[in-house]
Amino acid sequence: MGYFRQNIAMDLGSSNVYVAVERKGIAVREPSVVAVREKEGEVVAIGRAAKEMVGKTDSEISTVYPIRNGVISEYTITMNMISYFLDHAIKNPIKRILRPDVIVAIPCEITSVEKRAVERALKEAGAGRIFFVDSPLAAAVGAQLDISAPNGKMVVDIGGGITDIAVISFDGIVASCSVNVGGIAFDEAIKNYFKREYKMVIGDATAEKIKIQNACAYRDIRITPFEVSATDLQSRMPVERQVRPDELIKPLSEAILPILDGIRTVLEKTPPELASDIFERGIVLTGGGALLEGLDVLINKATGINVVIADKAQECVVAGAMKIFRSMTNDRKNEMMSK
Ligand SMILES: Nc1ncnc2c1ncn2[C@@H]1O[C@H](COP(=O)(O)OP(=O)(O)OP(=O)(O)O)[C@@H](O)[C@H]1O
Ligand SMILES: [Mg+2]
Repeated sequence: MGYFRQNIAMDLGSSNVYVAVERKGIAVREPSVVAVREKEGEVVAIGRAAKEMVGKTDSEISTVYPIRNGVISEYTITMNMISYFLDHAIKNPIKRILRPDVIVAIPCEITSVEKRAVERALKEAGAGRIFFVDSPLAAAVGAQLDISAPNGKMVVDIGGGITDIAVISFDGIVASCSVNVGGIAFDEAIKNYFKREYKMVIGDATAEKIKIQNACAYRDIRITPFEVSATDLQSRMPVERQVRPDELIKPLSEAILPILDGIRTVLEKTPPELASDIFERGIVLTGGGALLEGLDVLINKATGINVVIADKAQECVVAGAMKIFRSMTNDRKNEMMSK
């Protein structure tokens, strides 16, 4: 039966879920959103279809991001979402019934209660054996870093809700910290700026679009003015306004400040020999939040260390988790299960 059992890697993020299937690659790349009919608790849509509905539904339907800051905040909704994505990833019903083994990436500073909730949700959704891997370790492997080498590497995984910062050497995390800041906080900073400065209200989707298409975190990187359509705070009438990208640098860099503090804290905790490796080799950024224009430059200016954005930054965690899973021997798996 083991032969038919599928091996799965999962990255359950605050913004997106990624599922990779062994020998097939990434099978699911979907927003971690669920639309629910309030009264009955009935699930109306999951993933991309649910994200389309954010901010557009009537009062009967609400859209929920059931994972917040990298951990489960709505248990049943998360379980339904995982089950739905597993159905998508494993098309063969026999393989689905046989319960796939799953490796799941978790933030560095997750509590044992939060970890047990992930385990229970996966089990209830139809997973077999469950293995955990720290997100930054998986991110480093996905970014093609040689984690087993005895030199220091710093990975900063900037997601939607959480930033995991870690120094890795000899297959292990030497120093780390998690900061509850990511792309969602950048969206909030943009929304707040428009409200404060122009008395304009913009929705979550518009803020995210501005962040991706127009904003930047450092000067002179994006300069073309752009048009924003919004609602006037007082009159509630539609308004339009030309905005310069550099206006957003200050609010965005304020939102990024906790990440810079986190990097400094981790560097301070890093033994000097490994810290000098990082100064030589640079910092690797992964996660969707890392794609904010100019964020790499801002981190470079703030730390004096070279910064590189990993290839396919958003997929590094799931790709690395799968690579780690494939390299685990059966003895190692059994040893992990008995812990
Ligand atoms: N090109 C881009 N520029 C700026 N931000 C981007 C870009 N592409 C994606 N993002 C942002 O990346 C974030 C999602 O990244 P990712 O998928 O790594 O998060 P996640 O793993 O779901 O969250 P977490 O790890 O915090 O639980 C979102 O806030 C999204 O707006
Ligand atoms: Mg993530």
